[in-house]
Amino acid sequence: MTRHPGWPVSAGPLRVAGGLVTVRSVKLRDAAAWSRLRIRDRAHLEPWEPTGESPWDARHHISVWPGLYRSLRAEAHRGAMIPMAIELDGRFCGQLTVGNIVRGALRSAWIGYWVEKDVNGRGVATAAVALGLDHCFGPVGLHRVEATVRPENDASRAVLRNVGFRDEGLLERYLDVDGRFRDHLLVAMTVEEVPGSVADRLVRSGRATWA
Ligand code: ACO
Repeated sequence: MTRHPGWPVSAGPLRVAGGLVTVRSVKLRDAAAWSRLRIRDRAHLEPWEPTGESPWDARHHISVWPGLYRSLRAEAHRGAMIPMAIELDGRFCGQLTVGNIVRGALRSAWIGYWVEKDVNGRGVATAAVALGLDHCFGPVGLHRVEATVRPENDASRAVLRNVGFRDEGLLERYLDVDGRFRDHLLVAMTVEEVPGSVADRLVRSGRATWA
């Protein structure tokens, strides 16, 4: 089987207010933690996520993970996606996904994430996205990473700002999220904007330390 650059992945740890943050490839054994957090934190997650085709609890039942995991891993082996778990002090606390990896002259992808509600506001997503971006610009060899975020999502916009994304514009009625097509802000970063590493920049700004 072809091994695509940057898969599997293991990066960090970075120390932030919440503890030690690492990112790694998703695993079959993530089923229980994934299902528990996704079902418990529905109200926290649903307003910002693509509209699903089945009820939330059914979509996040523990029995769903093995099939989802296998399709994510297949996409990773194809080189189209990098599906990662975010760990805080060695415990699964969210996901970081790099998707739509396009090579050739574009060498581009999008990045998206979620983190359990209980640890919010302690720098976890910021650290995870910084590690993910360095992985994209380093081992994966991408030139550009973009993200889209609803204008109302202040916490996620703060994360994107923290790691140095640049605003590119407004995508009107871009994505079917929480039951309707919603406007999204497009932000991006290219490798030229990161002399050194995004994580090092975070450390220099005092938001994180290398553990
Ligand atoms: N208004 C303004 N700023 C806020 C608010 C708010 N209501 N709530 C939090 N913040 C700020 C915090 O102060 C912090 O900024 P600072 O570091 O400059 O002080 C920032 O938002 C949060 O940074 P972190 O602590 O690194 O992020 P956290 O680990 O809390 O995770 C996340 C943030 C991922 C958005 C989490 O709340 C979450 O999972 N939300 C639900 C799902 C979601 O929105 N995912 C992102 C979709 S968009 C995308 O993927 C590109």
